[in-house]
Amino acid sequence: MIIAVDGPAASGKGTIARALARHYKLPHLDTGLLYRAVGQTVLDRGGDPASETDALAACDFDDALLDDLRLKSGTVGNAASVVSAHPAVRAALIERQQRFANQPGGAVLDGRDIGTVIAPHADAKLFVRATSAVRARRRHEELVRSGGTISYDRVLADIKARDLRDSTRSAAPLKQADDAVLLDTSFLSIESAINHAIELVEGQLVKRPA
Ligand code: C5P
Repeated sequence: MIIAVDGPAASGKGTIARALARHYKLPHLDTGLLYRAVGQTVLDRGGDPASETDALAACDFDDALLDDLRLKSGTVGNAASVVSAHPAVRAALIERQQRFANQPGGAVLDGRDIGTVIAPHADAKLFVRATSAVRARRRHEELVRSGGTISYDRVLADIKARDLRDSTRSAAPLKQADDAVLLDTSFLSIESAINHAIELVEGQLVKRPA
């Protein structure tokens, strides 16, 4: 069984995808980490994320980087959003994601284009969203907890810029798949968001052709 979870930054899609993976005992891939690893590698090599050549060369990143805590930073998130708009970068990472999705037994993947491009045949698709103010508050609290000093307004501006870039790029823009169900987490606790997500997946599995 393949479960696709898409949505914008800090919508709660990562938490929901991890919980679904635990619930259904499936492996999970956070595909944003792949783009973050490319962004980090470009920065480490002194390159420019806006250069398709630099970004494509960085797709050979070392897998150990996927566990690097530096990938969580806002700077790397922005670099990831810039490199991910290059069609050549998306093409270089697609096979790895599709292999993960199509492994025997299935998988849960979260990202921006899982239900539309990576696994359009997924058995269940969720599109997770929350207002930009709520997402900025969550991300700001997370950054402050880990010792950051960035202001809420700056985080909100970054989130809006990233949403705009992710949803207006020509290659695999962030958009809800026609057959995805919407889950708005703006006013839900983590626990109720997870419970709703499981109910929505169950509802889609019931409707699946036998
Ligand atoms: O989800 P996360 O915030 O870690 O993703 C970082 C960036 O990677 C996003 O802003 C988006 O531009 C890009 N991304 C993407 N396609 C995916 C996952 C992430 O373009 N499937």
